[in-house]
Amino acid sequence: MIAIDLLTAIKARRSIHQFKKQEVGRAVLQDIFTYGSYAPTHYMKESWRINVYEREGKSDFVDAIMTSYQRIGMLKTDDDLKTQKMIDSMKQFLLQIPHHALIYFKKEDDPVRYEETYASICAFIQNAQLAAWSYGVGMLWTITPYMHDSGFAEDIGLDSRTDKIAAVMQIGYPEKIPRDKGRTPIGDKITFISE
Ligand SMILES: Cc1cc2nc3c(=O)[nH]c(=O)nc-3n(C[C@H](O)[C@H](O)[C@H](O)COP(=O)(O)O)c2cc1C
Repeated sequence: MIAIDLLTAIKARRSIHQFKKQEVGRAVLQDIFTYGSYAPTHYMKESWRINVYEREGKSDFVDAIMTSYQRIGMLKTDDDLKTQKMIDSMKQFLLQIPHHALIYFKKEDDPVRYEETYASICAFIQNAQLAAWSYGVGMLWTITPYMHDSGFAEDIGLDSRTDKIAAVMQIGYPEKIPRDKGRTPIGDKITFISE
């Protein structure tokens, strides 16, 4: 492992939209999510669950996304050639991404517990993204409407009454690294109240 230092990784990491075809090895993916799991987690709940869709496993997952987009009206359902072309190109786009890691957790009834859990999951995701960057692996954190479609959850074997999909991470070696868009100076956002 190359191990760039933490502060460099925090600033250099970019969201990756184009991936090489090459897969990330199983051991590397496990390492990346192991680093993720050192995120703070109240009551040591470690609520994150991860489904990694890769190789042939992507097919049903991507089909479920397309069906969901149709169900929620983001894609037409007709047999029109234009519709079919649109579906095919979206499918091809998703299928050429080496790995999709769907991150979910068991819902909490109590709103405070729910927030704690979701916050911890987000910390898990960012830890994993930074670890991935250290390994030369790129990720894109995505939240898309199908994650709120109970039919989609059912199609991939989850239960939307008890399972909350937090994100889908697209994962692979970067084909292109976007430019650093920078950040607003923190002085514009921070208020010190000292007395
Ligand atoms: C919760 C969350 C959801 C995001 N969802 C998407 C998404 O669905 N599609 C996308 O292209 N980028 C998504 N992003 C990535 C942001 O657009 C990206 O972080 C931002 O443009 C800054 O770029 P950087 O990560 O390279 O610094 C998401 C980021 C977060 C934190």
